[in-house]
Amino acid sequence: MSAGMDDGQPRHVAFIMDGNGRWAEARGLPRALGHRAGAETVRRVTSFARRRGIPFLTLYAFSTENWSRPREEVDALMELLSSFLAAELPALLENGVRLKILGDRTGLSEGLRQRLAAGEERTVGLTGLTLSLAINYGGRDECLRAARLAAERLAALGRGMESLDQEFFAACLDTAGMPDPDLIIRTAGEMRLSNFLIWQAAYAELFFTRRTWPDFSDADFEEAILEYGKRARKFGGA
Ligand code: IPE
Ligand code: IPE
Ligand code: MG
Repeated sequence: MSAGMDDGQPRHVAFIMDGNGRWAEARGLPRALGHRAGAETVRRVTSFARRRGIPFLTLYAFSTENWSRPREEVDALMELLSSFLAAELPALLENGVRLKILGDRTGLSEGLRQRLAAGEERTVGLTGLTLSLAINYGGRDECLRAARLAAERLAALGRGMESLDQEFFAACLDTAGMPDPDLIIRTAGEMRLSNFLIWQAAYAELFFTRRTWPDFSDADFEEAILEYGKRARKFGGA
């Protein structure tokens, strides 16, 4: 059973960073500026998680469905991801943050793929905080890719599909080796998972706040952690 720590402290917190567009629109600004403001919250939340001693932080940055947005917005998001990674790498190295990328990177530009790979390679031995960015990520897409990988791996081992179990499957997911999220926080009021970590979220505690992502503060993060600490996690037990 992959229970979280029972000291009330989540080991793995995952965020559905939502509301950048609404934050910008409410201020009469283009949506791209909302995403830029959201990048500042990514910095803040990462620093908070590190100082708060949370070992795994996962951020949903771009879904497999987000390609359906206007070309201009998609381009701005891709550009922002790329420049953010380049700008933040020194700080990640300095603070012992290990970067991991979740999602199907074959759908991304060559330039962005190189930056993602460089970020992962250069931070690979670091143990302070594991920061996972989900980019071109969809839970269903991840499950399908994992199913294909599992079939390949089993064939290579000379084993049949009937020996596929949950542990073997989980090791084929993008999150292989990571604990399941204990707490999933979604900003901006929507109460859904939007295809995020659908396998891994099986027993996650969910926290929803109306605060938009650019406005999400350290105090909001602390409130979510305190609320998490009050939840009784049962994992189906009595
Ligand atoms: C979240 O903010 C960022 C991404 C999904 C990339 P949105 O852009 O979804 O903001 P809203 O939901 O339109 O306000
Ligand atoms: C979920 O937000 C995806 C990310 C945060 C990257 P969306 O804004 O795309 O989700 P929906 O469309 O409201 O479900
Ligand atoms: Mg949204």
